[in-house]
Amino acid sequence: MFYVYKYVYLYVHTLQCMYLYTQIFIPNSKIMVISLISYKGGVGKTTLSENIAVCFAHAGRSVCIVDADDSANTVSWAKKRPDSLPKIEVIRENNKEEIAFKIKELNEKYDLVIVDSPPSQVPISDMIVLMSNLVIVPLLPKGEQETNTINQFVRKVRSLEITKEKKIPVYFVVNEYDGRISLHKNFAESMSKTFGKRLLPSKLHNRVAYAEVTHEGKGVLEYNDNKAKEEIKGLVNDIVRTIKQI
Ligand SMILES: Nc1ncnc2c1ncn2[C@@H]1O[C@H](COP(=O)(O)OP(=O)(O)O)[C@@H](O)[C@H]1O
Ligand SMILES: [Mg+2]
Repeated sequence: MFYVYKYVYLYVHTLQCMYLYTQIFIPNSKIMVISLISYKGGVGKTTLSENIAVCFAHAGRSVCIVDADDSANTVSWAKKRPDSLPKIEVIRENNKEEIAFKIKELNEKYDLVIVDSPPSQVPISDMIVLMSNLVIVPLLPKGEQETNTINQFVRKVRSLEITKEKKIPVYFVVNEYDGRISLHKNFAESMSKTFGKRLLPSKLHNRVAYAEVTHEGKGVLEYNDNKAKEEIKGLVNDIVRTIKQI
């Protein structure tokens, strides 16, 4: 009986992967370095790193996450990840002198390197920004305090761009959004006015699934919440579209 279940599971899993290939179209096998950065904690850097990695892994890409946060949440996540799911390597590197070498080395080995960053303005964050082909900043739909942190980060990126004479593509995504709350709606509208196309169209809603899967070493793509699955696929498609433009 066990074997029957196992083969049915594998069959369903293969079908799901084939379906994902049609849902997430990723043009080149070599992708790049995507970092999740914010000077604030609790905005979703780790949640998004894990969930984006899971989507790319299911779409057949080799993926590695660099966990640059001292709290090493992604390292713990990887330890819980079931062997039956697509493999995602997680490497801890929180040394600012070493991170550039590590990212370069991993970028040559994997299709995609995702960097999960620490929650403050520390020198390692600047190194991560400079090593990224795409920076994604998760935003919580809150008031002025959130906008101050965003402005601080945007200014830092500008100063790095000037000093290094390099364009750094920074995009934003609203996390834990609830369209019924006017503060959230106003926040999203204001961010859209400020950042235009640099605000990704997908928004992630506040869902139990995100909090649950992180304790199981999984992504919402591997969990039974279809709305969460659809929105993470939407976000990954936004990212893929963005990669093609930059
Ligand atoms: N969209 C979401 N819905 C529900 N819970 C979320 C969502 N995004 C993040 N969380 C939860 O919020 C907490 C902080 O998220 P996390 O990704 O660890 O933030 P960060 O890495 O920026 O500090 C975690 O407990 C996570 O499970
Ligand atoms: Mg984190």
